[in-house]
Amino acid sequence: MIKHKYDDFGDIIAQLKSIEDESIQSIISVLPLIERCFSLSQEVSYEKVSHSLLNFGNVLDECKRVLKKDGTVWLFVDNFNLDGEVIPLPFLVAEKAQEVGFFLRNIIIWYNSNAPCFLGPFLNRCSYILFLSKSKDYKFDKDPVREPHVWKEVEWGGGRRSRYNPKGKDPSNFWLKTESQKGRILRHVLLSVEEVVKRCILVSTSSGDKILDMFAENSCVTKVAREEGRISVFCYSKINYPKKPFFSINEKDWSEKKSPFNISKKFEKVYFKSCEDMGEIPDTCVQLVITSPPYWGLRDYNVRGQIGFGESYATYLSRLQKVMKECHRILRPEGSMWININKRIIQGNMILFPKDIIKIASEVGFVLKDIVIWHKPISVPTTGPRNFTDRHEYVLFFTKIKQGYFFNPASLKTSDYIYNGAKGPENVWKIFRKIGNIGKEIEVLIKEKKIKHTAVFPEELVKRIILLCSERGDIVLDPFAGSGTTIVVAEALGRIGVGYELNTDYGLIIKRRLENTTAKLLTWLNTNV
Ligand SMILES: C[S@@+](CC[C@H](N)C(=O)[O-])C[C@H]1O[C@@H](n2cnc3c(N)ncnc32)[C@H](O)[C@@H]1O
Repeated sequence: MIKHKYDDFGDIIAQLKSIEDESIQSIISVLPLIERCFSLSQEVSYEKVSHSLLNFGNVLDECKRVLKKDGTVWLFVDNFNLDGEVIPLPFLVAEKAQEVGFFLRNIIIWYNSNAPCFLGPFLNRCSYILFLSKSKDYKFDKDPVREPHVWKEVEWGGGRRSRYNPKGKDPSNFWLKTESQKGRILRHVLLSVEEVVKRCILVSTSSGDKILDMFAENSCVTKVAREEGRISVFCYSKINYPKKPFFSINEKDWSEKKSPFNISKKFEKVYFKSCEDMGEIPDTCVQLVITSPPYWGLRDYNVRGQIGFGESYATYLSRLQKVMKECHRILRPEGSMWININKRIIQGNMILFPKDIIKIASEVGFVLKDIVIWHKPISVPTTGPRNFTDRHEYVLFFTKIKQGYFFNPASLKTSDYIYNGAKGPENVWKIFRKIGNIGKEIEVLIKEKKIKHTAVFPEELVKRIILLCSERGDIVLDPFAGSGTTIVVAEALGRIGVGYELNTDYGLIIKRRLENTTAKLLTWLNTNV
């Protein structure tokens, strides 16, 4: 048991105790979790962070007590890179909040050029804001934070004009301002911390409401709350946080050269069987795994034995872990595994799939190197009237080794955003969806039978990963091949694409895509590989 001079949050809890029950409308705080760990013992470790999180549960209990029934909590918390491995703190704090009975409503990504430095391979551009509510019914008004329509002043244009709202389009869970003229984006304007705090305040409180900041020494909440005519309540930590940074910045942890590799074996393009056993693939011969696994309890892919449908969540995770063990076995030491996944609200509960996937992958031995945010600039408003439209997904980047994995940052252009100060490859990617959920369905008509796949990920996303983490001639594998996006893009880029898929019908889509699109793709990809 680790003994601290303070019980991690003891000083804050004592101050919270003096606040009346159900008196606060909104709690807005920047969490100094890592800073506290460091101040208390001069070093940060997994154990200390976990210990700190346990104690943070006690703080959250107090938050529940002081919050009004329709109150909300906004927690600013960033990922942390510990000795070359990312600790996904936002997901861990979100899990803790759910455990003590808060409803996790959303996770907002604030595109932030001042986000804490990372030792990881990308420039860190994202800060996470957890949006929680005390009960199912909570105060929320999106009007003061609506975003201007970009495209022809009507975001959805054409047949979807009915979505036009003169007050602006629905705000999303990706926070970055866009300046546009006649549908053309002129520049992106990065929000300051004050502007971000103001958004939280405007959306969740009215004039005269009380706003609490639990760590006022760490933020500007008090100042902004007063400017907006709210009553500010705050706690001050008794701990002196270190002034100096507690990690060194940017040592390169990837390599440009890989050990020589030769494989003479011929592979099928797709093995139509469960990827829980990939016995056809020898050990350590695959350079890159890219996949989007089926979600639990969401879609029926109409095939017996599928993962994620008609089984418990525990079975789902243990079957996915079996697949990951296979991926770990077949990957080369310099190889990597990229998993595209999102959080989802299922029967009113937010399921943090990315958090659980990170957990099971770490148990297998994978190292989480970074979490790339895939920003989807257009998406259907699905989260209801009292929430932000979902406009991002997570792409988890795992490696087998902490240092020396293959990575080619020169293949990725600096930034997808137009602003001064973009410096290198960033961990936020803006990619439009042409097919799949909100684009067109991908389908083929074979002997009057229509076969379609609706959960397709974008070719551009796959292309970037392939160029970053593999070379010509490498094997790129997708255990959940679906309509074959990974295989098609890999082949177009001179890699060997291989996949596993249970539903044989999708083989027809893959075949058609390989025949029809490889040539077209080559022009579209327009790469110099
Ligand atoms: C989210 S989709 C993948 C879509 C793919 N990324 C694309 O672009 O088309 C997941 C796929 O996993 C397949 N699947 C489910 N269980 C499987 C299993 N045990 N082995 C192999 N494939 C499976 C489903 O049939 C479905 O096509």
